[in-house]
Amino acid sequence: MRLLFVGDVVGSVGRDTVSLYLPLLKKKYRPQVTIINGENAAAGRGITEKIYKKFLQDGADVVTLGNHTWDNRDIFEFIDEAKKMVRPANFPAATTPGQGIVYIKVNQVELAVINLQGRAFMVDIDDPFAVIDELVAEARQRTPLIFLDFHAETTSEKQAMGWFLDGRVSAVVGTHTHVQTNDARILPEGTAYLTDVGMTGPYDGILGMKREAVIGKFRTALPHRFEVVESGRNTLSYCVIELDDVTGKAKKIEVGQINEDSPFRD
Ligand SMILES: [Fe+2]
Repeated sequence: MRLLFVGDVVGSVGRDTVSLYLPLLKKKYRPQVTIINGENAAAGRGITEKIYKKFLQDGADVVTLGNHTWDNRDIFEFIDEAKKMVRPANFPAATTPGQGIVYIKVNQVELAVINLQGRAFMVDIDDPFAVIDELVAEARQRTPLIFLDFHAETTSEKQAMGWFLDGRVSAVVGTHTHVQTNDARILPEGTAYLTDVGMTGPYDGILGMKREAVIGKFRTALPHRFEVVESGRNTLSYCVIELDDVTGKAKKIEVGQINEDSPFRD
């Protein structure tokens, strides 16, 4: 099975970039499953039902989320019906709507897609390492093909998760920092690993936000209103992972970006 994962789609520029390039990427790589992280898709914070449906229409099979999951009130109206959406699985189970794992079936082969959120420099939710232990045990009853989007801030917490899961899941790919890392590899026991896949959206902002406010905040320490960049050059960040359908182990991971500095090639 081949997977295509598109990193953190930011605002309307990000959504338009997905609509523009996803068909080309799908034609180039022919993935059986396409996953998009959409937690910043609605003006940088959260996602709406309309945007979720547009992602599916554009070719996504699963939409993953993160720390901005709840920022758009619309989410509470549709998350329980959104069967192809996963939010971090380590939010408190008893009180949190939505699901932390989804299963996608392609020609008799099933893929589990899990979303987790880190705790270093982030909100202190449930222990992602304890939660993933349970979810991996649950998923492996059905399939050895397991993809994890680990939405976390620090490189160390992400590396720890990769090594913790080596040989037990097919891939651990980080999101949230919006900067693509150059460390894609297959760990010794067969888990594909990438610290961060990077973002999709404005190419000339700071993590997708207007630069002036971010620079102003660093220079003055005064409150600034962060707004998403709404026009200008765009970028798309992705990775492609190939899995063995029987063992679930990763055979290959390839990382890419499309923007004016590295244009799309067939
Ligand atoms: Fe995030």
